[in-house]
Amino acid sequence: MPLPAALLATACNAPAAETPGVTVAQGTLESGGGMVVSAYPHASRAGAEVLRAGGNAVDAAIATGFALAVTHPAAGNIGGGGFMVIRFPDGSSTVMDFREKAPLRAHPEMFLDESGEYSYRIHHRSHLAVGVPGTVAGFAQAHEKYGSAAWTGLVEPAVALARDGFEVSERLAGSLAGRLEAFRDYPATFAQFFRDGEPYAPGDTLVQADLAATLERIRDHGRDGFYAGETARLLAEEMERGGGWITEEDLARYQAVEREPVRGTYRGYDIISMAPPSSGGTALVEMLNVLEGFDVAAMGANSPAHAHHLIEAMRRAFRDRAAHLADPDFSDVPVARLTSKAYAAEIRATIKADAASVSDPDDVAGAPGWESSETTHYSVVDADGLAVSVTYTLEGGYGSYITVPGAGFLLNNEMGDFNARPGLTTDRGLIGTEPNLARPEQRMLSSMTPTILARDGELVAVVGSPGGRTIINTVLQIVVNVVDFGMSPADAVAAKRLHHQWLPDAARLEDGYMSEDDAAVLTAMGHQISWSGRQGIAHCIFTGEGGVLVGVPDPRDSDGTAAGY
Ligand code: DON
Repeated sequence: MPLPAALLATACNAPAAETPGVTVAQGTLESGGGMVVSAYPHASRAGAEVLRAGGNAVDAAIATGFALAVTHPAAGNIGGGGFMVIRFPDGSSTVMDFREKAPLRAHPEMFLDESGEYSYRIHHRSHLAVGVPGTVAGFAQAHEKYGSAAWTGLVEPAVALARDGFEVSERLAGSLAGRLEAFRDYPATFAQFFRDGEPYAPGDTLVQADLAATLERIRDHGRDGFYAGETARLLAEEMERGGGWITEEDLARYQAVEREPVRGTYRGYDIISMAPPSSGGTALVEMLNVLEGFDVAAMGANSPAHAHHLIEAMRRAFRDRAAHLADPDFSDVPVARLTSKAYAAEIRATIKADAASVSDPDDVAGAPGWESSETTHYSVVDADGLAVSVTYTLEGGYGSYITVPGAGFLLNNEMGDFNARPGLTTDRGLIGTEPNLARPEQRMLSSMTPTILARDGELVAVVGSPGGRTIINTVLQIVVNVVDFGMSPADAVAAKRLHHQWLPDAARLEDGYMSEDDAAVLTAMGHQISWSGRQGIAHCIFTGEGGVLVGVPDPRDSDGTAAGY
């Protein structure tokens, strides 16, 4: 479906339309000023207009995030949570943690049914699957500490998109139409995303009046517009109705946290990434440290040797993830050891040059399963070089499917990222290790990996992706593509990816990752492989020749858009 002509001149690899001073393109875009790359054109434009009006990259990230909550309802959100990694022009960095929390009533056995059996439905698709949302608190805290523009102007574009409506893309129309039956059980959601019970067609205007009213409260009252008053009351009432445990007290108590990033180096590049409660930065740095001891460049991109060494690094980092990673406010996470060069050397010594290792579930008390791929990542850089990398999520696509009646926003189902119950391990991959069990006000373990790459004090790239546990490996491969293979920004993002997560002991390769002959070589080494359609959606920004910003929407997403000025 063509996007609105006023918004976008060219659909691909563009120079593109001029909206007042801002260029918007669904393809690689170069810009001398600021840049935003996100999962929907209106959201990228909202962020870029904030930059053009003099806001900084944190301001633009907030505006983009609120706009995505309107235009990308599968993952953009105010009812979920996420992480923001910030690198300042002087090279210093910080991270904002606005991951959801378990409510005060939570306990490790809360996902068992009346007969004491683990219930997937309770864990992933019920009111008990909803964590206390963090996004609005995170944005408010980031704004208070590092923003420069007025808050109201950062929320207003989202208010307008919800109140006046926006043009539905082909991908969004298809995504919503695919939920026609599933949403029937959720009347407020069905009413919000279907018109008179019928799906929106591409090009139709989607208006979300209740969401507009909630966003107005957030615009006018900041975090209190969400965590207190009308919005909090409506959310708590929906919990009460549906047997959920989040109360107005849980909402009032929620706080975002500023943390130290996880930092590492890879062949002279600096890696700045997300700290626990995400496993992302820790596993990323662990894998890069392992790969640093191999001559990856000599292997050739996507060769059997390259794939083998990636898989072996992934296998080991994901074992450590299952064993150790969780909310650092509740358990000691050995980040320093896991990200040390010395530990990587120990691990590297266990990797054979041309034979697969075997993942042993007894290495820890259990093994993780596969995950679906709904979350969204966006990248922002301003003219001063302030860089912001945001990944946030409702967990599954459209989260819990529960829209808060009268408030118009979807609630997450992030409690599903806690381990199912103490000790439970299945070959589908549930784990029962202690650190990531549900407890009052604990944050559930994440894989989101918003990351910033720098070298010699200069910004190199802002990277991240959705995709559950595949996120960490997607980011890993983009870094390797840039550093080891010297790929152009567009090639580094477009290149086919693979995923291995220790257990199940199988690698999943994107279709076209390598030839059949090369795949046979990998199999002969002992690797189990399967093929998949798509891994990740990495909306990234790079610094190109002469310091120009290069925005690269991942070509895997037809709505991905760069906007700059
Ligand atoms: O935080 C996480 O790692 C996941 N909840 C992210 C979700 C995602 O990417 C989609 N997959 N379930």
